[in-house]
Formats: sequence, C-alpha cells, structure tokens
Amino acid sequence: MQRRTFLTALGATAAFLPGARAQSQPVRIGIVGGRFGATFQWHLHPNARVEAVCDISKPRLDTLSEVYRCGNRYEDFRRMLQHPGLDAVGVFTPAPLHVWMAETAINAGKHVISAVPAGLSIEELERLLEAVERTGMRYMMAETSYYRPEVVTCREMAERGEFGTIVYSEAEYHHEGLLELMFDDRRLPTWRHGFPPMWYPTHCTGMIVPVTGERLRAVSAIGWGDDHEVCRTNAYHNPFWNTTGLFETERGKASRVTVAWHLAAGGTERGQFYGDRASFLMDRPEGSPDTLVRIARNGQTSIDANGYPEGKVEQQEALQRDYLERLPEPMRVPSGHGGSHTHLTHEFIQAIAEDRHPAVNVWEAIAYTAPGLVAHESALAGGERMQIPDFGRAPA
Ligand SMILES: NC(=O)c1ccc[n+]([C@@H]2O[C@H](COP(=O)([O-])OP(=O)(O)OC[C@H]3O[C@@H](n4cnc5c(N)ncnc54)[C@H](O)[C@@H]3O)[C@@H](O)[C@H]2O)c1
Repeated sequence: MQRRTFLTALGATAAFLPGARAQSQPVRIGIVGGRFGATFQWHLHPNARVEAVCDISKPRLDTLSEVYRCGNRYEDFRRMLQHPGLDAVGVFTPAPLHVWMAETAINAGKHVISAVPAGLSIEELERLLEAVERTGMRYMMAETSYYRPEVVTCREMAERGEFGTIVYSEAEYHHEGLLELMFDDRRLPTWRHGFPPMWYPTHCTGMIVPVTGERLRAVSAIGWGDDHEVCRTNAYHNPFWNTTGLFETERGKASRVTVAWHLAAGGTERGQFYGDRASFLMDRPEGSPDTLVRIARNGQTSIDANGYPEGKVEQQEALQRDYLERLPEPMRVPSGHGGSHTHLTHEFIQAIAEDRHPAVNVWEAIAYTAPGLVAHESALAGGERMQIPDFGRAPA
C-alpha cells in the first residue's frame, strides 16, 4: 500500500518544528460533515490544503465550501474519495457512520482523522485497527479533551513525574441541551436520539487514559433513565439518560467517569487527578477555578498531626495557558472546545508530513472508546463487573 512520505525542501514547517521533516507539497484533505466538521483550521495550516468537501445537505456543503474556501463539492462520500490527489479525509459525520467511512477511506489509501467516538462496538474497533495495521495509513481520533489546555498541562506534569503516583482520577461530561439535538427541525429523531451515554465516553477517558498513562481494564457501571419517550423508543434500545462507571486501571487504581445527557449541573467536561505529590482539579461550572494542590517540598513540607505531609493549595494564574505558541503563526487563533481544534488540526497534518502515528492514534482512540462500550454493557447488566479488552499500543 502506498504511503506518502514528504521529504523535501525547507518550508515554513521547519521554522516552528525543529527537527521536523519539511515537505514540498501540502497535505490535500477532503472533509465530510459540515457542522462540527466546519470548525477546524485546515485552511490556515501552512502544510495543508482543503481539496474537497462533502455533505448530503446543501446548506452544510455551502458552509464547508465557504469556511475552507474550496470549490470541489461532493454530495457522495465515495465520489469524494475518488477526487484526484487526495491524501487524507476528515470524517465529521454522525457517529454511526464513523467506522464505515474511516474504513472505506483507509482502503482507498487515505489517511483519516475522525470525530469521536472511534466506533460503536468492539467489532467495529477491531475492523478499524485491522484496516490501519494492514494498510499502514495513519488514523487519528479528533478528541478535543486531549488538547484542552488543562489536560495538556496535566499530561506534561505526569510525564515529568510531578503528580507522583496518580492514585485516583475522575472525569465527567455533562452535555447541556442534548435533548434539542435529539430531534431535527421537523421533529424527527437524529442519530443522537437516545444515544447511549457511555458510547460517548471519550471526552472523559481522553483525559484519564493519557494523563494516568494507564489503560482501563475493568468496569462496573450504573445507568439511570426514566419513562421518557426518548428512553423508551430510541433505535439503540438504550434506557439511560446518564451513566457512571467505576473503572479499574491496569495498575489497580480507581477512576470514576460520568457521562450525562440529563441532569441540572451546568454543562461541563472536566477531570481531576489525585496524586501522592500533587493533584489537579479542573474548574467547575459553578465557578471554582483550575486548582493545583502540591505537597510543599525543599525542606518546607508541613506535617500534620499524624505525620503526613500537608497539601499546599496553589491557584495559579500560570495554569491558564493556551499553548498557542506551539502552533504555526497563522493558526494562533481562538478555536472550539477550549482551543483544542487548532491543536488537533496541526497534529494530524504534522503526523502525515512527518510520516508518524499521530498522538491520538488508532490504539489510543480504541483505549478511550472501548471502556465506555463495556461500561454500557455493565450498566445494562445491573452493574456487573466486566473486563475491558486491551488492543495494545502504537508500535514504537
Ligand atoms: N467535542 C467533540 O469532539 C465533538 C463535538 C461535536 C460533535 N462531535 C462529533 O462530530 C460528529 C458530527 O457532529 P455534528 O454535531 O456535526 O453532527 P450533525 O448530525 O449535526 O452533522 C453531521 C453532518 O454530516 C452530514 N452527513 C450525514 N450523513 C452523511 C453522509 N452519508 N455523507 C455526507 N454527509 C453526511 C449531515 O448532513 C450533517 O451536516 C459526531 O460524530 C459527533 O460525535 C464531536
């Protein structure tokens, strides 16, 4: 299978990525799905060009054309894949289409970035992994939580060992107003109608797995629903509005994840990581700020009555970073989901240009997605503890 490599003359890339392989040609990408899919910065990246856009809805196709300044318009995804010279495809369609579209694009020799979740069943995830391994094409899941600035800070603190051992973690995703998106403007159900909450775990697991550095290996979950028409009639036979899973990590720590479509708390995507040297609590919707708790060191450790070190709470201004300096100059613009969209755009394009797996590669994408699929099964079985399959990690 052909894998494109871009060796070449120095371009703008080398200036912002020391050691990076520069390329002579931009990555030519086609985008399918014109709502969420129109909120990325492919048109601003110096190494990318939007070569084709696709949607079955004309207004959405118009949006894609306008945002990405691209006149090559398709209503049929398979026809877009035949567009001459396409290197990569961005899949931003409803979740039930992700694996089919990613697999079809990969088999057509395209690299793929896909909206979350990676897939909706273990069997779908196996097919996705098989396609990537067989072809050598690159796959990335566009997990916005991974590039939220607080999560970047936590990932890098963890890499430097600043948490000590992360002994417990939590993450929650409360989607306000999802009921509205469960119906279209004709009041017909959309793909979100009754979507199982734990089939959409990645905004939480996409914090926990990369920050702890551990896979999730088992879960016991509890779901809650009521007699609402959505819970009774959806195509997924899902009875739950909300589900909470208590996960065990591969090294035996507890991690609590809640995905909720229906509760009164204000929308949020947040995590907290409790280490034995430091803890990080992301801001809460009611207003408490990002909070870093560190055990004071260098001889100033205070000891409580039981002889344990006492935490020193730091509410640091310095935590409010945006990491924009890591992006090429034209991309240093505000973007969606905590500024994550520009970073996702950049990482996918650079991974192709540098002929490497992206950060949220297929192995990571599956490690964020599969735990929720098993958690939903556990909730359906009344909280039965279930093992989560491990699909491994990207080869070095
Ligand atoms: N923070 C995040 O990571 C985040 C946020 C929002 C949405 N998403 C994900 O992005 C995806 C898209 O979300 P959305 O809110 O834009 O959904 P949506 O249903 O509003 O829009 C999907 C678009 O895909 C188009 N489409 C559907 N079937 C198609 C087909 N066969 N060929 C071409 N186009 C087709 C639709 O016309 C529509 O414009 C979803 O999977 C969602 O889970 C992720």
